[in-house]
Amino acid sequence: MSMPQSWANYGIDLHLDLAGTRVRAGLEAGLRNAVRSGRLAPGTRLPSSRDLAADLRVARNTVADAYGQLVAEGWLTAMTGAGTWVAERQVAAPRPISPKGALAGELRYDLRAGAPASSAFDRRQWISAARAALSAAPEEVFGYPDPRGLPELRSALAGYLARARGVITSADNVIICAGFAHGLALISQVLAERGAKTVAIEGYGHQSHRSLIAAHGLALAPLPVDPSGARPAEPALHGAGAALLTPAHQFPLGTTLAPRRRTAFVDWAVRSGGLIIEDDYDGEFRYDRQPVGALQALAPEHVVYAGTASKSLAPGLRLGWLALPADLTEAVIAAKERSGTHNSVLDQLTLARLITSGGYDRQIRQARLSYRRRRDRLIAALDRYAPAVRLTGIAAGLHAVAELASGDEGDVVARAAKHGVAVEGLNHYAAIEDDTRPALVIGYGRPAEHAFSTAVSRLCAALAGTAAR
Ligand SMILES: Cc1ncc(COP(=O)(O)O)c(C=O)c1O
Repeated sequence: MSMPQSWANYGIDLHLDLAGTRVRAGLEAGLRNAVRSGRLAPGTRLPSSRDLAADLRVARNTVADAYGQLVAEGWLTAMTGAGTWVAERQVAAPRPISPKGALAGELRYDLRAGAPASSAFDRRQWISAARAALSAAPEEVFGYPDPRGLPELRSALAGYLARARGVITSADNVIICAGFAHGLALISQVLAERGAKTVAIEGYGHQSHRSLIAAHGLALAPLPVDPSGARPAEPALHGAGAALLTPAHQFPLGTTLAPRRRTAFVDWAVRSGGLIIEDDYDGEFRYDRQPVGALQALAPEHVVYAGTASKSLAPGLRLGWLALPADLTEAVIAAKERSGTHNSVLDQLTLARLITSGGYDRQIRQARLSYRRRRDRLIAALDRYAPAVRLTGIAAGLHAVAELASGDEGDVVARAAKHGVAVEGLNHYAAIEDDTRPALVIGYGRPAEHAFSTAVSRLCAALAGTAAR
């Protein structure tokens, strides 16, 4: 039941639409909207969670949790004991936007990051969504497709992204592409056409993504990454036309971009006219708390939000999507037409049906549970059999970083290979020469369920030789 409430006792006219069973979500959305639209100005002090809870007649924890989430997303700032404020930041002008490689035979256990378990793809659900979607599709759908992607899928995604990831977009600004890699290539092309010379990238990431950007004649400027994520105040940002970031879950270090830094990157983009490319490759898989909302919502006209079905369903589908700033949409559509790459309408219809029927959410929930169990098994095994290793980046995603107490990560990778385990060292992902610590990036998504325990125990055997911290 919907229960509109006014929060006027504090001199702030904030109208909240609190639905009975989704009070916290309603409160978060109401506060986000109020900050975004400027009704709650930067620096405004919010009532204490106790006062607001009493005023709205909801549990105090509900308000405290909603505040905590919005602090994590950079909308609010909080100081223990001192209160909660609307974050000081440059508010983007509110503008309405219309609506990889095979393993050698002896490496039987694949713990490389970057892919989900092939067995996790629910074929039965996909087949039944495909059947339903195909039966209902009008004939026109089978002609040459709209270069943006099918309207059915774009509109299903716009709704899903708003609901699940807090993205602010409309079907008009969503473009379907062949995975994130294709989307990144399209954006790089448009950036180059518009005269950009440099793209700031995180100091750790996929070499393939760096190559894609460089292939468009753009130079790469790496940003150091620390436990709060990529550092925004680096010379790398000066003069950069764009910054490629993984804010929800840095790849591969696994950190979440700190609220202050989210704001700082957005401020940079607003100030300099630079573009943020938000790679939200596994944003739905968060285990310790509710997923951190998309950075895009802080400045939809300065951020390209990029999503993919590669983690949530299967990389082989080659389905990805971009939610674009309105003034970039036409250029990206033109680039896509020139790229000659389109997605099959069958796959697009099927994914649209999966999303609108609730099947996509269900699959993500199931996968989240299953990956969380794997993660817990990995933590327990390393704790027991390789206690010298410190596991980080475990709050989200399908991989973790195992920091080695000492030694050469190349040696450990080689030892793992002798145990039949394929795993990469952190160096494999480095774009920057800094104090790269010896570490492994362990992908726990890939092995089939029946092989997971063996893969982990073989990895532990390979790690067992490392010295204690
Ligand atoms: C950091 C990162 N971005 C994006 C992707 C998805 O890429 P694609 O959609 O091209 O499969 C992955 C998948 O491994 C990834 O690790």
